[in-house]
Amino acid sequence: MGRERQGVLISFEGIEKVGKTTQIGRLAAWLRAKKFTVRVMREPGGTMLGESLRSILLHQGEIKSPQAELLLFAAARAELVREVLMPSLSRGEIVILDRFSDSSVAYQGFGRGIDVKWIQSVNLHVTEGLSPNMTFLLQGPSFDQGDDNIEKAGREFFDRVKTGYNKIAAEDPSRWHIIPSARPIDEVAKDIQKLVSSYLMLGQDGIEG
Ligand code: TYD
Repeated sequence: MGRERQGVLISFEGIEKVGKTTQIGRLAAWLRAKKFTVRVMREPGGTMLGESLRSILLHQGEIKSPQAELLLFAAARAELVREVLMPSLSRGEIVILDRFSDSSVAYQGFGRGIDVKWIQSVNLHVTEGLSPNMTFLLQGPSFDQGDDNIEKAGREFFDRVKTGYNKIAAEDPSRWHIIPSARPIDEVAKDIQKLVSSYLMLGQDGIEG
């Protein structure tokens, strides 16, 4: 199924508060101004099942089993791939994802300590082999602690997640682009536009000055 795609899948990864949502908004607006059809989705979410699982995973009682946590994220992903991503990509749209399979490797693998190979195999099945064309790893300041079930894990957890991201990004430099994001929003947006522009072969015109 993955091979039928004509669209482009772009994912954004990184720990909390590095500016993913802001940059996704900027990139989507820039591409729409160039008349591309753009769809923005977040994980977990984007489908009825995905939004329900999001609320269970993030806001209901703590999940004790990291394996259960992984499989719930994976279930949300499977539904998103089947219901939204495959149809969108086969229509030739650009899909921008706020997190995708790599989040499970970084958070449940490096963060929670689940076997990374097993996670990659689960990901391969639930995505039906679909992998992003480009992934932006936004790197900002460390994150300590927040309110939802994942954010409660604390500083050491997020340091492991950060290390995990660096490791998986280094394994596939043609897909991953590391973007330091503790800079003015416009500067970061422009760097991302340049990379997308060259991937889409748009030339340098119209990149925000
Ligand atoms: P969200 O509020 O979207 O956080 P952020 O704005 O930082 O992306 O919540 C998603 C949370 O779920 C985030 O803490 C990362 C975590 N997560 C995983 O642990 N595994 C996964 O596979 C995915 C998709 C997300």
